[in-house]
Amino acid sequence: MIQILRTKAEVNEALADFRSSSQAIGLVPTMGALHEGHLALVRKAMSNGDVVVVSIFVNPIQFNNEEDLIKYPNTLDKDLDLLEKEGVRFVFKPENHTLYPNKPTLEINFGQVDQVLEGAKRPGHFNGVGIVVAKLLNIVKPNRTYFGQKDLQQVAVVRSLINDLSFSTSMEVVNTVREKDGLAMSSRNLRLGVEERMVAPLLYQCLNFAKGELLAGKEWFAVKEVVMARFEKEPLARLEYFELVHTDTIALVNDLPSSGKRSICIAAYVGEIRLIDNLIIID
Ligand code: PAJ
Repeated sequence: MIQILRTKAEVNEALADFRSSSQAIGLVPTMGALHEGHLALVRKAMSNGDVVVVSIFVNPIQFNNEEDLIKYPNTLDKDLDLLEKEGVRFVFKPENHTLYPNKPTLEINFGQVDQVLEGAKRPGHFNGVGIVVAKLLNIVKPNRTYFGQKDLQQVAVVRSLINDLSFSTSMEVVNTVREKDGLAMSSRNLRLGVEERMVAPLLYQCLNFAKGELLAGKEWFAVKEVVMARFEKEPLARLEYFELVHTDTIALVNDLPSSGKRSICIAAYVGEIRLIDNLIIID
């Protein structure tokens, strides 16, 4: 049976025996409304032999859009069923006032990585992610923590949180899980209307197109123009950014070096729903 833990004391009690027998603990932080993308992280943790703790917490301080927070899907019963089937032992599901007895006054400055893409478009977002991930790491004290490549910039932010603050956890990054038509799985996909859902694979199509063009030697700015024009023709979609970045630092770049990590990141609205995706160009 899956056990729901609601406080730090309950987590400590539930994990005490595992800790004393040096059983590795794996944390999968989520905001619920689970799908195959989240389950890929869970499966990775299970395959490592971890005692798996999945946290489900819709973190209010990382939302800079009130409506996005209010409309965030809640599918708890289904989530618990899915996790039980995967063999997950523990779900950490704190209340807001448990994690935030006071509104945090701490502000984390992630430097350059927070100046671009999601950091620039969603001020305060990564501060909120950083604070909640630090809390979860301090409460669960996992040996391994699992994040999805789907949120590439979040991976960079959490990596610096773990390294710069010396958290005793390793981080594993799991590839993006997609629908058959290429749309990256996301809890927000549930909010797409029928026609919007048909348009949404455009993000991945553009990423793939751009990857092909870049690897064939085309200039980045020329490729980007074609993608911008493609979005202009689609009345249901609006491109917010389409950028070539260094995969680890998320610094904006405009060339493909002979060696060096490169990814393309995209954000676009489809109807009212803001979607993000990315693709690794050179590993
Ligand atoms: P959430 O959006 O629920 O995502 C939880 C984890 O699942 C993240 O690491 C995310 O990158 C990963 N994920 C989401 N969709 C994925 C997909 N299609 N393929 C692979 N992995 C995917 O990200 C958050 O929550 C929050 O910011 C959180 C880290 C929990 C802090 O509140």
